[in-house]
Amino acid sequence: MKRYLFLADLHGNYRATMALDAALPSIRADEIWFLGDAVGKGPSNAETCDWVRAHCGHFLGGNWDYGIGGKEFPEDGYFWNQLGPERMAWLNGLPREAELTLSGLRFRLFHGRPVTSLLKGSDASDILHTALVTDHGTFDAAIFADSHRPFIRTLNPGYILNTGSVGVSMGMPRCHALVIDAGDSAADPLFFTILSIPYDREAAIQDALDSPDLPHQDAYIREIRTGIYSR
Ligand SMILES: [Fe+2]
Repeated sequence: MKRYLFLADLHGNYRATMALDAALPSIRADEIWFLGDAVGKGPSNAETCDWVRAHCGHFLGGNWDYGIGGKEFPEDGYFWNQLGPERMAWLNGLPREAELTLSGLRFRLFHGRPVTSLLKGSDASDILHTALVTDHGTFDAAIFADSHRPFIRTLNPGYILNTGSVGVSMGMPRCHALVIDAGDSAADPLFFTILSIPYDREAAIQDALDSPDLPHQDAYIREIRTGIYSR
């Protein structure tokens, strides 16, 4: 059996990232996968991006990574200045999808859009179709991020798993990630675990207050404080 850690949506919150860092020895992951959105929203983007690159072995891009890395929005200059051209090129060049076979099941990995918006609806068949039925065949399971809400669901006939967010969690403002224990054989069991780690949110809010040029500073602080989506 092997242990996989899937993490995403750190969003420049280095305090939350350091809480996860401190938990790594007890998590004892064999493989760490980054599922996108290292940057944007929070005030510590270079440090958080560098932590992802140093600690993960597999990488996918998120919408913020491409938006900032590709200089899509002029109002993101604050983030460009922190990251610099080398990190931005790395973020913009990240792959969008990957696949893994775990305990004999075929898993599709991606950041999230356009599945996230479908979660707000009630028609699970839409989610199933978009996440699991693709041009590359039908998958047994999908792991994605983007909604900033960790969950493990079954849809007929697949698993849908969300990593939650390390840095800007919705609903419960703690650091979240997903752990899967799996084997090489279809006869091996699968274990799905949601990690929920507290971190020093007052220090994270102070980091944002100390960064007066942070775009949408109020919205970021509100999200850290309340877990309510604010922009
Ligand atoms: Fe995100």
